[in-house]
Amino acid sequence: MYSKLEINLSEPINDWQFMTSIREATNLDRDNIREVHLHAFDEGEKEIVATLASNLLREETSPKTLALIAEIDGKVVGHIAFSPVTFNSNNKLKGYILAPLGVKPEYQKRGIGSQLIESGIEKLLKKGVNVLFVYGDPKYYGKFGFKAETAARYLPPYKLQYPFGWLALVLNENSFAEHTANISCVASLCDPALW
Ligand SMILES: CC(C)(COP(=O)(O)OP(=O)(O)OC[C@H]1O[C@@H](n2cnc3c(N)ncnc32)[C@H](O)[C@@H]1OP(=O)(O)O)[C@@H](O)C(=O)NCCC(=O)NCCS
Repeated sequence: MYSKLEINLSEPINDWQFMTSIREATNLDRDNIREVHLHAFDEGEKEIVATLASNLLREETSPKTLALIAEIDGKVVGHIAFSPVTFNSNNKLKGYILAPLGVKPEYQKRGIGSQLIESGIEKLLKKGVNVLFVYGDPKYYGKFGFKAETAARYLPPYKLQYPFGWLALVLNENSFAEHTANISCVASLCDPALW
């Protein structure tokens, strides 16, 4: 699921942000969400990520998984999901993990990925979520405040192929674990190939 991003900043800034609407996904969006990830991710990752997105949409979790889509002219161009995690040492702490995130290649580098992340963070903040994890490129997620040092005391459920991509963002301060804590994720993410 981790992928190194190659970003070309030579394209002109345009108004696409303003044409994009973000809404919560429903089961009816499943095929369009799969399409987003089949186009966004490369050959080696696209099937596993599209399946993850689809499984997360179907899985009933407590608390609820949040899935958002970005639309332009009624066309689904981006998708993001946030699912809950639990901690072995602190059951008062509310945690979520961001995975997956994808924007169709022809719509990338226009702020749509950022809009999906920011909109999700806003909703999780309102739910009182304390900490949000992500396994991704520190260069991209760093600008939203995700840090490796915040994630360091939380052990992911599987051995990571790219340990430097394990990041976290504090949303609402809480009494964070002083000692290392193990985190568990929802069933859809329980596949070592995703980590
Ligand atoms: C990662 C991904 C979701 C980002 O989506 P995106 O819509 O391109 O993201 P953004 O437009 O918000 O940001 C991308 C870059 O474009 C820049 N950008 C944003 N709006 C721009 C605009 N109007 N003009 C030019 N550049 C712009 C941003 O500054 C950012 O550059 P930075 O990282 O140096 O700050 C997308 O590249 C993707 O789907 N990649 C393949 C799948 C993937 O790797 N997913 C993440 C797994 S961890």
